[in-house]
Amino acid sequence: MTPEDHKLLSETGKGTAMGELLRRFWMPAVLSRELPEADGAPVRVRLLGEDLVAFRDTRGRVGLLREHCSHRGASLFYGRNGECGLRCWYHGWKYDLDGNCVDMPNVLPGQDFKHRIKHPAYPCVERNGAVWTWMGPRADMPDLPELEWLTVPEDHAFVSKRLQLCNWMQGMDGDLDSSHLAFLHGNPLKARTTELPDKSPGWLLEDPVPKIELEAMPAGLLMAARRRADATSFYWRVNQWFMPGFTTIPLAGDSPQAGHAWVPIDDTKVWTFTFSWHPRRKLSDAELERMRTGSNVHARLIPGTTIPYYNQSNGYAEPDAPPAGQPWMRITDLQAQDMAMTESMGPLWDRTLENTGPSDAVIMRTRRRLIEAARHLRETGEAPRIAPADYRLRPVSVQLPEGASWREAIAEAVIARPETFQVSV
Ligand code: FES
Ligand SMILES: [Fe+2]
Repeated sequence: MTPEDHKLLSETGKGTAMGELLRRFWMPAVLSRELPEADGAPVRVRLLGEDLVAFRDTRGRVGLLREHCSHRGASLFYGRNGECGLRCWYHGWKYDLDGNCVDMPNVLPGQDFKHRIKHPAYPCVERNGAVWTWMGPRADMPDLPELEWLTVPEDHAFVSKRLQLCNWMQGMDGDLDSSHLAFLHGNPLKARTTELPDKSPGWLLEDPVPKIELEAMPAGLLMAARRRADATSFYWRVNQWFMPGFTTIPLAGDSPQAGHAWVPIDDTKVWTFTFSWHPRRKLSDAELERMRTGSNVHARLIPGTTIPYYNQSNGYAEPDAPPAGQPWMRITDLQAQDMAMTESMGPLWDRTLENTGPSDAVIMRTRRRLIEAARHLRETGEAPRIAPADYRLRPVSVQLPEGASWREAIAEAVIARPETFQVSV
């Protein structure tokens, strides 16, 4: 990778090529449960290098404002939230959801200039447990992408959020990298082969060189990874990468399916939003309990925080686990294993030092797609043309006889509509 491409991929702030591209997509900003009540406590949110404050107003709507007051910069985190607005505690300037300054009490009536103040504010839409925001030009704002987890009824879906201490693409690359499964996750996969009736953990474990087929789609990439199942059949695992930072994960049996949204906090930190949803049914109480406390896809968190329980400070391991010979032996949690690898690259890994090969094909394709889209936007002002309905695809995995076409086999099941749902193997 050239230094120019590396820089372009890494920088997400306002005015950077990738930062501007990212601002042409809706992103999850905060969980609904972080703002549990109308006129409750505001929450600090940093996104794409911008410091913001989210608040739920008197009517229950969520707003996202620049953190620093337009008067002289005091933090609106300390603002008084009430009567449909957030009032800076310093001199009382009050802002509504759209950033209009609706009161300027430290200036005599007749001298106030509140109509001239437009505080930076980003539109928000709340859906299925998360608040999404649009940080791009308002004139270009599309509808929310029709990702399946946003289109199912609310009780079919669950979302959690965790902090990861690395560039957003370091984290996302892990989801696009099929060939680490057998190696990094060898032990948890081995445990699953004995604990679960599913055969797929064994297939994943035994084939470290999956054959990957890729198909470009308007919203991103469709990826199909083929592994040997038995003497006469293959295991095909099909999932998606959607622009700019969404990935999906097929889960076997009648389980809820899963996906991630990788949302840059800045260039060296990322929010990982994890979504679970079932296309056809409510999530059970037992499933929700597991997701809240740490499941195979939702991270276990330090209670009351977004910090993963297994993290850099404890070597990604159970603090009172018996000592093990080598550091890796202590890291047994599947997501801790992923985090240990992507964070161990450092907050911003220098991609010019990489030596990528055939197993990195998906990562190279997604990087190329993002770089080209960012350059095109910078040069022409045109953002990628993606319709909200282009996101209506879901992950699926199947066992097929040798010679059968995976494209035909999953043609219906990948279309995200309740009636097409098919249980994955
Ligand atoms: S700094 Fe906010 S009102 Fe003065
Ligand atoms: Fe992984």
